[in-house]
Amino acid sequence: MQDVPNHVAIIMDGNGRWAEERGLKRSAGHKEGGKTLEKLALYAKKMGIKILSVYAFSTDNFKRSQEEVDFLMNLLIYYFNEKLDKVCKEGVKIIFSGREKPLREDVLKAMHNITQKTINNDACILNICLNYGGQEEIVDASLKIHEDIVNGTLNPHKLNRDNFYKYLYQDLPPIDLLIRTGKEHRLSNFMLYQSFYAEIYFTDIYFPDFLETDFEEAVAFFKKRDRRFGNVKTNCKNSANKL
Ligand code: IPE
Ligand code: IPE
Ligand code: MG
Repeated sequence: MQDVPNHVAIIMDGNGRWAEERGLKRSAGHKEGGKTLEKLALYAKKMGIKILSVYAFSTDNFKRSQEEVDFLMNLLIYYFNEKLDKVCKEGVKIIFSGREKPLREDVLKAMHNITQKTINNDACILNICLNYGGQEEIVDASLKIHEDIVNGTLNPHKLNRDNFYKYLYQDLPPIDLLIRTGKEHRLSNFMLYQSFYAEIYFTDIYFPDFLETDFEEAVAFFKKRDRRFGNVKTNCKNSANKL
């Protein structure tokens, strides 16, 4: 039996389809998804999860209509400035992962404000991946590594898979449990480096409908996994495991 996962990540997908199936505009789905995110951050704290990473907007989501992108950016500002107040008061530290460019000034400002406001919180961490791409993160890390080698602060022979994390957007431990809502079974460029041994949980539930019991079910799935990390089971009495 595994303990509660230390780092959980969620690909919050299915807002648009949630709305379309109800004859509503996609924006209604995003609004409803925002409410779910607020609740999940509090459930995570309650369950003893230390880090929750959420995929809020990918670098590829800029391919969507200007109207949808603008709606999402305004919604995010509203959440950072007002709606996440309870989460902040509960001691959750909010941090971000992703590229700044081409985010709008007002979005960057709201991100900066909520980061500063929660900088000393230590109940748990909410890592919001905004204008985030997993391949972009690895490319950006490679550029920082190159810089450190050139300025002499990094000996390239000392670089390994553990200290590589220092060059990512945030130096967080690897993901233990990765959840994707909304029927699709793919990573969509999310935290490729950090999910190397993540247990992956797919659910058909659209993100706005993903509630506390669904989160608990995902954690229960995780607890039952036998994580071997490339090794074989230790203390196994089964002779079939012997060479
Ligand atoms: C996820 O929901 C939220 C974002 C990508 C911002 P979608 O907007 O992708 O919803 P579907 O997948 O179209 O239903
Ligand atoms: C992934 O969902 C991005 C977020 C949840 C923010 P998408 O809806 O963008 O992914 P695809 O296009 O279905 O792969
Ligand atoms: Mg989607």
